[in-house]
Amino acid sequence: MAIIDLNTDIPNNIFLIPSTRPREVRAHFERGDVVILTDIRIDADFEFLSNIEPPTGTGARRDKYVFWQMRNKVPSNQDHVWKHFKDGPLRERPSDYRKFQNLVRHVEDQMNDIVKIIFSRNKFRNEIITWKFQRNTGENLHIDNLQGCNEIAQVRVFANLDTKPRHWAVGQHWDHYAERYYDTHSLKECVHNAFEFNGRLNHAAFGPSWETSDEPRHRIAFDPGEVWLTNSALVAHQVRGGNLMCIAHHEYPYRQYIDRSVSLPSRLKALSRHHSKSPVTLIDRMRGAMTRITR
Ligand SMILES: [Fe+2]
Repeated sequence: MAIIDLNTDIPNNIFLIPSTRPREVRAHFERGDVVILTDIRIDADFEFLSNIEPPTGTGARRDKYVFWQMRNKVPSNQDHVWKHFKDGPLRERPSDYRKFQNLVRHVEDQMNDIVKIIFSRNKFRNEIITWKFQRNTGENLHIDNLQGCNEIAQVRVFANLDTKPRHWAVGQHWDHYAERYYDTHSLKECVHNAFEFNGRLNHAAFGPSWETSDEPRHRIAFDPGEVWLTNSALVAHQVRGGNLMCIAHHEYPYRQYIDRSVSLPSRLKALSRHHSKSPVTLIDRMRGAMTRITR
């Protein structure tokens, strides 16, 4: 099971829930918590997979690959991706190439099964599984600004496929940072565009991606094979170290949410409404009070 080191200075937004309670998992995911599935482990030969060198890149710059995807319910031909491996690192090893293919499909079948269990009622616009071979040695705490986040959510089911734990940190919910920086960083200017808003919020809350924010955070070490969900556009997160993993990021419209008021666009509307109702800031109010006292 994952090792969790909670920071008591910030709210706990990490939940351990079995996949046998899918509605609860989905609700926590949609509102922006981290959910670790307690009863599921990906079955695969992690030793073999970890030793596959991807065709391009080294270290943290090793590439990402999509071996299977459905676009508008139509399977997309990914032969060109397989070919990179067949003609590249596995060129002289046909039996290893077959084993690699079988393992990728075996893992992807399991990922799709997990998505089906948790999101059974959802109809996906696109279904995508991305494999990340990168050797990640750390990144800044951040909130994702995902393409399409004005209209669609991504399921974001993560699996550690490496022989070693994957180290993450989890900060606070989007609400906390958005409220804190709304006025000071003119976030109002992009309140109608979730993608731009999150880009600007990231910079305000955590600084540039190459820097290290000192915001408080929880730490998690995910075991090999462990599976977790995070709505990464709504919770601050950070990869602190880890190698091979895959993500199912199937896309579905916000109208399929259990509670649409927790979606990113709804939160932006509520934030804007709340701030337009109270145009007088706390500083303005304090200044006013001081003026009244000194009169
Ligand atoms: Fe991210």
